[in-house]
Amino acid sequence: MVKPKWLLPVWRMARIVKELPRNVRAMFRGQELRTTEAGRRGLLNLARTLPDGSVMVEIGSYRGESAEIFLSSGRVARIFCVDPWKRFYDLNDASAYTDMKEVELDFDRRHADDPRVVKVKGTIETFIERHGGEVIDFVYVDGCHTYQGAKNDILKARDCVRPRFAIGGHDWTWPGIGDAVRETLGEPDQVFEDTSWVKKLNTDK
Ligand SMILES: C[S@@+](CC[C@H](N)C(=O)[O-])C[C@H]1O[C@@H](n2cnc3c(N)ncnc32)[C@H](O)[C@@H]1O
Repeated sequence: MVKPKWLLPVWRMARIVKELPRNVRAMFRGQELRTTEAGRRGLLNLARTLPDGSVMVEIGSYRGESAEIFLSSGRVARIFCVDPWKRFYDLNDASAYTDMKEVELDFDRRHADDPRVVKVKGTIETFIERHGGEVIDFVYVDGCHTYQGAKNDILKARDCVRPRFAIGGHDWTWPGIGDAVRETLGEPDQVFEDTSWVKKLNTDK
């Protein structure tokens, strides 16, 4: 069902208000925002659909847990981790209310010594500016959780990064995200138990 455009800001505000108690709790207890068992399983199952030796870009890396899972799948040879690591960057998402300095330090602790990980502090635009010439197989979108933000990331991934294999992301069921995916790529090929989704771009690979 296509929702009228004016409904999206109303829906977004309602979501922010509804999520406020959880987000304020997250502000004080950021450590709780961890990947669950279902989250781990979903990401691993998605990663197993990738070709061996994939080079990927992750938009929204936070503590680096999902990057760790992608790498542990054995399918990913190199990952660009893109995140502004800025507090209150995306008010729709509980992660924005946590201590981003501590979160970024946690990311660095996990990945600073791993030559397979390239940290990109910024957005997909920063990635394109600095690494636009890289050949990328897969882009995973888990950054901004608004319709406009997700749509921007998917469109830039599709038209500027142009991955050889697929585009995917998290939060298929999040308000606005499913619409952003459908309008840019069509129905996903697969949705996983953690609400990750994937759309293959070149099926003969
Ligand atoms: C839900 S967290 C990502 C969780 C991570 N993928 C994991 O599973 O471990 C969302 C992250 O996206 C980042 N973010 C928000 N807007 C962004 C944007 N426009 N571009 C890149 N990252 C963004 C936030 O700073 C936050 O760290």
